Amino acid sequence: MSEADFDHPDIVLEPHGPMLVRGASTIRDAEGTLHRVERPVVALCRCDKSSRKPWCDGTHKVIPRR
Ligand code: FES
Repeated sequence: MSEADFDHPDIVLEPHGPMLVRGASTIRDAEGTLHRVERPVVALCRCDKSSRKPWCDGTHKVIPRR
């Protein structure tokens, strides 16, 4: 997939949780790696504690809020 292949996904920021992305075919992580999306909606980690980054694994639920 090239840089010219743009998606137009819908994005929802969950309060104290992940970024939900609907309609994306790929996700580029912080290291620049492209991940193919196989599901209609995916949850991306925003807390930086997931063991499955860039995907949310639910760890944010056990992190104390500031
Ligand atoms: S947002 Fe869910 S594990 Fe980071």
